[in-house]
Amino acid sequence: MPHLHIESFKTITYPAQCGDVEFLFQADYHDQNKGSLIATRYKGKEFFLVYKHGENKTLLKSDKITRPTPNYLIKHSLLAYAECAGLNILDSNVDNAPENTHLKTYDALKSISYFADNFPREREVRIEVGFGSARHLLHQASTNPNILFIGLEIHKPSIEQALKQIVIQNLTNIMVLDYDARLFLEFVPSNIISRIYVHFPVPWDKKPHRRVISKAFLKESDRVLCIGGRLELRTDSEEYYRFALETFSSPSKSCFYVRKNQDIAVTSKYEDRWKKMDKNIYDVTFTCETESPEAEEIGDFSFSSSPISSQSVDNLSKDTYKREWGFLHIERKFTIGKEGRMIRLAMGSFDRPESTYVLIKNGAARYYPSLPVRSKSNIKAHILLDELLHG
Ligand SMILES: C[S@@+](CC[C@H](N)C(=O)[O-])C[C@H]1O[C@@H](n2cnc3c(N)ncnc32)[C@H](O)[C@@H]1O
Repeated sequence: MPHLHIESFKTITYPAQCGDVEFLFQADYHDQNKGSLIATRYKGKEFFLVYKHGENKTLLKSDKITRPTPNYLIKHSLLAYAECAGLNILDSNVDNAPENTHLKTYDALKSISYFADNFPREREVRIEVGFGSARHLLHQASTNPNILFIGLEIHKPSIEQALKQIVIQNLTNIMVLDYDARLFLEFVPSNIISRIYVHFPVPWDKKPHRRVISKAFLKESDRVLCIGGRLELRTDSEEYYRFALETFSSPSKSCFYVRKNQDIAVTSKYEDRWKKMDKNIYDVTFTCETESPEAEEIGDFSFSSSPISSQSVDNLSKDTYKREWGFLHIERKFTIGKEGRMIRLAMGSFDRPESTYVLIKNGAARYYPSLPVRSKSNIKAHILLDELLHG
């Protein structure tokens, strides 16, 4: 992580324009004189630089939560601040190299906000959960060029490998997302997905609550699948197979079938391995038979309009509020000048918590520098925060 080891920190007058970097305001740690965040805008991105005064080092570096990519943005902003404030740099890992314009960006890689804000629905959509080596995903996409495939994975090297293959094979009908499949379906509109592939999911025999297939996942799949759409589980695990049978038969009405040791057009690395070991392979396929209502409106991240006093922020304790939908954790408080306040918090689901900042200025609160992902658990955490801020 780029950083400057400095002799001592010096503040500047805000807002300031230092070369092509803007410094917007400074938020100081509320309870100890140990650091500050510097709101920075560069090349259209807003993020914080952090000044931290430790036992034996004073550092200027980038904030983890708002950290922009590529690293060049941080490096350039650190040096711009140091110059603007006249800091004495003792040592650093920041070079003054020009921006590397050859850095690869992948069009296929999307963020969860992309789907949360405007889910693509112009053409048939299929989802593959945990695509691993992506053999099946790439094969499906190349043989069905008019269908959009959304590949979900949480293993970064697999994502990187798939993205490279998408470029090499010149495929334009795959979107890749680094997100937990157990949480993704809530962003999908009802009745629009034609297939959900779950091939060789991690069996999690000792921690079944971590399995992708669950009653909740089946219910959400049934909602997002169109009539005739299918959720296709393929597994070599006897235990997962039995668990899936139980799960798929639990709704009062459901339509599913089982096949054993059937070949499919493309085999994955895992499948090749299990076949060599003469293991049985099970397909458990659920078919959606009914149309579902549209998902409920979940609200947004606006705060109540009545003014929030600095005092009510100061009175907030650094606590964790656990609920059945997830949690809200007030982590740290900051002051901005005399009256402004800022809170750093973690929120949302236990499986995919999100960290963010809330600015409180002139009695009004807003998330900074961007809104959290519009998930049900984040919205519920937001409603709780709004209540706490308004006493
Ligand atoms: C055993 S591998 C199978 C990969 C591939 N489907 C195949 O057949 O070769 C399971 C994959 O699921 C991914 N995975 C596990 N849990 C996941 C989750 N909750 N959401 C998305 N992907 C997940 C893992 O990272 C891993 O790549």
